[in-house]
Amino acid sequence: MDQTNSELTTFVIFGASGDLTKRKLIPSLFSLHQKQKLAGGCRIIGFSTSKKSHQEFRAEMREGIDAFYQSPFEEQEWETFKKHLFYVPGSFTEREDFKRLANELEKSKGDPDNRLYYLAAPPRFFPNIVENLDDAGLVRESEGFRRVVIEKPFGSDLKSAQILNKKIHQSLDESQIFRIDHYLGKETVQNVMVFRFANAMFEPVWNRNYIDHVQITVAEDVGVGHRAKFYDNVGVMRDMFQNHLFQLLTLVAMEPPSTFEAEALRNEKKKVLSAVRPILTGQIETDTIRAQYRGYLEKDGVSTNSQIATYAALRFYIDNWRWQGVPFYLRSGKKLKKKTSEIVIQYKRPPHLMFPLPENRDITANILAICLQPDEGIHATFEVKVPDSDVEMKSVPMDFKYAESFGESAIPDAYERLLLDATEGDASLFTRSDQIETGWELVDPIIQGWLNGGKPELAIYEPGSWGPADADEFMARSGRRWRIECAGES
Ligand code: BG6
Repeated sequence: MDQTNSELTTFVIFGASGDLTKRKLIPSLFSLHQKQKLAGGCRIIGFSTSKKSHQEFRAEMREGIDAFYQSPFEEQEWETFKKHLFYVPGSFTEREDFKRLANELEKSKGDPDNRLYYLAAPPRFFPNIVENLDDAGLVRESEGFRRVVIEKPFGSDLKSAQILNKKIHQSLDESQIFRIDHYLGKETVQNVMVFRFANAMFEPVWNRNYIDHVQITVAEDVGVGHRAKFYDNVGVMRDMFQNHLFQLLTLVAMEPPSTFEAEALRNEKKKVLSAVRPILTGQIETDTIRAQYRGYLEKDGVSTNSQIATYAALRFYIDNWRWQGVPFYLRSGKKLKKKTSEIVIQYKRPPHLMFPLPENRDITANILAICLQPDEGIHATFEVKVPDSDVEMKSVPMDFKYAESFGESAIPDAYERLLLDATEGDASLFTRSDQIETGWELVDPIIQGWLNGGKPELAIYEPGSWGPADADEFMARSGRRWRIECAGES
């Protein structure tokens, strides 16, 4: 997967006036240009409803670079890059506008004529865009590839995801569709597989015999910001669990694929997600927590008395040989104390302890924490003998930090990897239709259960806390506690 693309690719960004284009897509493409990873060159056409000239579009994108681009660059590099930026105003629902786009694409096409259409538009337009591209003859692969990258959310429940899949499959082959989940583009997330499958010492103890439970935390310190209206129809389950948290769960729990190829990886991910036991009506109250941060209701765009959860915690079990009986605790929320995404593997205590321990002191079980962001690394704790004591023991850390081993700016933005992989046709880090649907099969009964049964009640938590007290009690009921290992809080 360590590649450069040696053929010219034309990127068409639908929804080019939106935040994502300015904040992520153009900075990532500029970085790839700067690193000469798009060696064959690129043309970028922004398409969206607002009217503007090529020049205005370039100026807007430059503002994005000034605000969000992290690496130093020479002015000349931007001057060269900006000449490849173009803009076509148009409506996502107007066929005529797609014909104008086709004319623009014809003007300076590459040989072969490779095109990547990026759907960063509001999700309700995804079917229109694909249909109009098809009508204008823009998705047929003859002299170059035609691929479509689709942003999340992919549907809002199982039924809508199935309809969307069916609709886009009328115009596109699955091999042309790249459903994006930016978590998969994160280096640290990709490293979960390398960590598990390129080291002989962890995989043999990565199972129910040695692991007590797994915790996956994706905590954000920000609130819903300017997306309140959107968020109030979505909530944390659709925004974070159906995609990002489930991706992390599959990477931790899946079996080793036989090859490092997209289909082999996706088969294993689908297999493990299908083995996750759905949380059905009877367990909603005992296996889920939902909460909202205090102050959420005051945000513009949020409906009065909104029951939308900005925090959730869940307990899943995976019904297969490796994981039977091992709980997987997943939690995510906004306005929490710190931003941290981490996977904590809590090992069991040794089966027999020959060392005499002082009264009320139990041995601390080993912990392995994979710190995904922002302080990327891996952190383990193990027991050592305190010097000059009989057998007094202490937990000590063993740490790996990306910044120390690879330098402060070693980690590129997730979108860089994903955009490059899509131009290369490598779908390993993109989600296949069946995995999306299985994700919804797990999320739907929870959202429905909350809505219909009203239990557990929506708890309120304080901004700047680690979530509601109910979530701590939820863990305490099984004699466990939440751990924050990576943000200096354990
Ligand atoms: C997005 C969600 O997919 O992920 C946002 O829609 C969330 O609500 C974001 O803030 C978190 O991404 P990251 O990369 O900052 O963890």
